[in-house]
Amino acid sequence: MTAGAANATAPASETDRALALEELERFAPLYPLPRLELVSGRNARVVDTAGREYIDFVSGIGVNALGHAPAGIARAVARQMKLLAHCSNLFANRPAIELARALTDATGYSKVFFCNSGTEGMEAALKFARARARALGLPGRDVLAFRGGFHGRTAFALSATWTPSYREPFEPLVPGVRFADFNQVEGLDQVLDEGLAAVVVEPVQGEGGAVPARREFLEALRARCSALGVQLIFDEVQCGMGRCGWLLAAQHYRVRADVTVLSKALGGGLPLAAVLMSDEAARGLAPGQHGCTFGGGPAVTSAGLQVLERVRRPGFLARVRARGRNLEKGLEALAQRHSTISEARGLGLLRAVVVADSAPFDAPALVKAARDHGLLLVRGGERAVRLIPPLTVSPGEIEEALARLDRALHHLEDQAATKGEKKP
Ligand SMILES: Cc1ncc(COP(=O)(O)O)c(C=O)c1O
Repeated sequence: MTAGAANATAPASETDRALALEELERFAPLYPLPRLELVSGRNARVVDTAGREYIDFVSGIGVNALGHAPAGIARAVARQMKLLAHCSNLFANRPAIELARALTDATGYSKVFFCNSGTEGMEAALKFARARARALGLPGRDVLAFRGGFHGRTAFALSATWTPSYREPFEPLVPGVRFADFNQVEGLDQVLDEGLAAVVVEPVQGEGGAVPARREFLEALRARCSALGVQLIFDEVQCGMGRCGWLLAAQHYRVRADVTVLSKALGGGLPLAAVLMSDEAARGLAPGQHGCTFGGGPAVTSAGLQVLERVRRPGFLARVRARGRNLEKGLEALAQRHSTISEARGLGLLRAVVVADSAPFDAPALVKAARDHGLLLVRGGERAVRLIPPLTVSPGEIEEALARLDRALHHLEDQAATKGEKKP
């Protein structure tokens, strides 16, 4: 980290402008370009090309759970890269075996399938549910997913993702996906029947804007799935691996899925996903049915071992819960003070503020203003802005982030008031 890094509110430099042109020229127009170019980081702080320092409450969308440049991971990965970086799924490797053992020991699941990303994990989980139904002679092949849910961008995972604008350009997608209201117990019997192979849900909707499930809702899903022999899949790609204060967010609810998918934080910055399943859920799988060239390679699983070991250290998750409460209190106080914020919500360190319908600015404007005040945030859903700090964030960093968010809100509110005064 550069000592005395320039203030984040410094004006755009020549470097920014050059980057803007380079990005616009070279990248497929799939992200809002140009983006801020980051060069280094330490725990919850990052520095851009102009030397401006930010508090990072995006954490690579929940990936950098141990903060930037966490101790131990670079060493473990470098050691493994010098021994054996990749060997494909035709051969076994020790770090993958050890990570599979550590994950099953920690979560109580029996089997693991490793792949590279959240969407690949969800794709696999949905395929496995259909294979199981077929192998067991069950009639169901459909999938029930929920409004506001996000499961990825590959065909099956996308088919189960709610946001119509993500799905529609690519239709026709995988058939047989139904949607129901998230957190709505009433009416579940009408949509949950033997025609289903699986029900897929995020215990806390991440991209939807940090919306926690209600306990009764997950309990109702569990009870109905068990009664019908339908597979319950928890997508913990974003909310798992300690993010909500428990290794699995499901532990907070004391509801257990047949299959849980982890990714994001698991690889410590390298691409890794784990589909965790019960023995029963693995029924129907046979060699050759599914696979992944890179999945569970020795370098990424050596990183995964480091992350899991850190998250499972005594006191780690209790600290995440305590920091989550600090952030929750701070955001609630902020929502009290600013009528432009209608709600603060979330669980653990997966949190969001919701921009009020009556606010004179929208969620992207708040993300930009926060950035101009030295705080990196990310949108979620239509009107929410998420705060996803590293799990290792300090109380001081939380306080500083809240102060910067407060200043960003005042700035937007003052700007709107000035504009209003200038109107004839
Ligand atoms: C809950 C959830 N599932 C799946 C995904 C897809 O993960 P990836 O972008 O690694 O494919 C995401 C990504 O944000 C997610 O939040």
